[in-house]
Amino acid sequence: MAADIKMFFCVGLAVGLTAKCHRTAQPHAVYCQDNKMIYCSLNYLMFAFQRTLQDQWSRMMVSTDQAQFMANLIRLINATKAIEVGMYTGYNALSMALAMPENGRVVACEIEDSYINISKPFFKEAGVENKIDIQHQTAMKTLNELIAAGEAGTYDFVFIDADKGNYDNYYEKSLELIRKGGVIAIDNVLWSGKVVNPAPDDQTSQSLDALNKKLHKDQRIDLSMLTVGDGLTLAIKR
Ligand SMILES: C[S@@+](CC[C@H](N)C(=O)[O-])C[C@H]1O[C@@H](n2cnc3c(N)ncnc32)[C@H](O)[C@@H]1O
Ligand SMILES: *[C@@H]1O[C@H](CO)[C@@H](O)[C@H](O)[C@H]1NC(C)=O
Ligand SMILES: *[C@@H]1O[C@H](CO)[C@@H](O)[C@H](O)[C@H]1NC(C)=O
Repeated sequence: MAADIKMFFCVGLAVGLTAKCHRTAQPHAVYCQDNKMIYCSLNYLMFAFQRTLQDQWSRMMVSTDQAQFMANLIRLINATKAIEVGMYTGYNALSMALAMPENGRVVACEIEDSYINISKPFFKEAGVENKIDIQHQTAMKTLNELIAAGEAGTYDFVFIDADKGNYDNYYEKSLELIRKGGVIAIDNVLWSGKVVNPAPDDQTSQSLDALNKKLHKDQRIDLSMLTVGDGLTLAIKR
């Protein structure tokens, strides 16, 4: 992209993001204090981020600090094979793909084709469309297909961020697919604090609480539960 076009986008981003900057910390892109832009590093991720803010469900997108942290985890463990369970508009899938070498692959699970359609131009623009294998079907079907294809024990990183009721199933399938030393990251494990004494009719909070308690005792993994975003669990396979 030409430099002057980039400059144009940067001004657009500055205007667009200023109103949003109290929502999340945005270290790799924009850091806002008293509504002032302090850092603005223009990159392909920010185009995807900015486009997603226009969607009514943009709160589903991971925060920029979380995406940055997971991308650096991927670099630290030299990951070349990753899975995202719940891609949405592709912001985090793009972040993971950009953190991987040329031979890196992200299997991105998403059932909504409108979200997939939003993601594709951003993957192409960033030059990583060949690194992201979008699977337009239920995530469970994709995970089962990968296992059936003999890929168990070959993945380095899995990010679970789709329908909460299925988290336990996604976790068990991910444990099969991940290699020893690989990382399973699980989003929304604090569920806005509702996992503490979940209401009797709140199935989502109850199932997340049950999963948290299960992982706490799970001898197959080393556990780290972080207060990043809405709660981020890291399970490292022993
Ligand atoms: C919280 S959003 C994912 C956000 C994304 N990881 C990001 O950071 O931008 C959850 C996504 O999972 C998708 N989803 C829900 N149930 C699914 C299923 N059974 N299989 C695959 N995708 C599913 C939804 O359509 C939605 O886009
Ligand atoms: C990752 O790769 C680099 C360069 O090839 C190597 O020095 C490093 O030890 C590797 N790290 C891990 C955790 O495998
Ligand atoms: C997504 O793109 C496909 C292929 O171009 C098209 O058939 C489909 O209607 C699109 N879906 C939505 C919801 O726009």
